[in-house]
Amino acid sequence: MDARLSAIVSKLVYQVQETIDEFNITEEEWMEAIHFMTNVGKNDEYHLLSDVLGFSVKVNEKTHANSKNNVATDHSVEGPLYRDNAPVHHCEASMFEGEEEPGDVLFLSGQVTYSDGTPVPKAIVDVWQSNAEGDYENEDPKQADYNYRRKIETDNNGHYKLKTMVPGPYRISKSGYVGQLLQKMGRHDWRPAHIHFKISDDFQEPLTTMLFIENDPWIDSDAIGAVKDSLILRTKKIDDPNEMNQYEMDKPFYVAEYNFVIEKAEERTNQIN
Ligand SMILES: [Fe+2]
Repeated sequence: MDARLSAIVSKLVYQVQETIDEFNITEEEWMEAIHFMTNVGKNDEYHLLSDVLGFSVKVNEKTHANSKNNVATDHSVEGPLYRDNAPVHHCEASMFEGEEEPGDVLFLSGQVTYSDGTPVPKAIVDVWQSNAEGDYENEDPKQADYNYRRKIETDNNGHYKLKTMVPGPYRISKSGYVGQLLQKMGRHDWRPAHIHFKISDDFQEPLTTMLFIENDPWIDSDAIGAVKDSLILRTKKIDDPNEMNQYEMDKPFYVAEYNFVIEKAEERTNQIN
């Protein structure tokens, strides 16, 4: 017997029974619920349902609560659109081929350190994001393979630099069954613009997180509830001609800095034990 499983299912059953009681749920409504869950399964939308109900973020927080001290960067969910084997660059990278893409250029830089402040040389900063229209390359035939996907190896002091375009917000449920549920509940399905990261050294599982572009219209109502203050990327607009020259830019753009803090493998092991 699995005592933990039994306890969890019993609690869930109790809470559903309570809800049936409280709302006097009818057979017709119950059949509609069963029909909905069947369609969510057939359409492969369970992950999405978990996301929009806030379960994915909650479980992510619980999973990493034990191994996280107050200093390390907050974890977040990976999401469904990660691809491994992005092109590797040393110290700095452009997230796209060529000079520029539609939207606003963003120069992002920072340092990866351990929680004691020691820089992490040769850390891998694995980055992926949508373009300015909110489209990921693997869902957009107009974009090149691995567009906006790069792995950047930090220098000897843990520094990394990247040039990208400010990503756009995007909708997650489109026209599926989960989308219909959100509509009936009067909820939108927008995710605020964000950039995904996995940060790792040689010895540890990556720290997976995402940074949100400040002032995005959806930042206070993320459809999956992943926004945290600590993960908001403060950007500065550069529109002074002299400063623009320093970056060899002929139109306004944005700069931002973000430092990632990861735990050493032994710190994580100690805390778990
Ligand atoms: Fe995303």
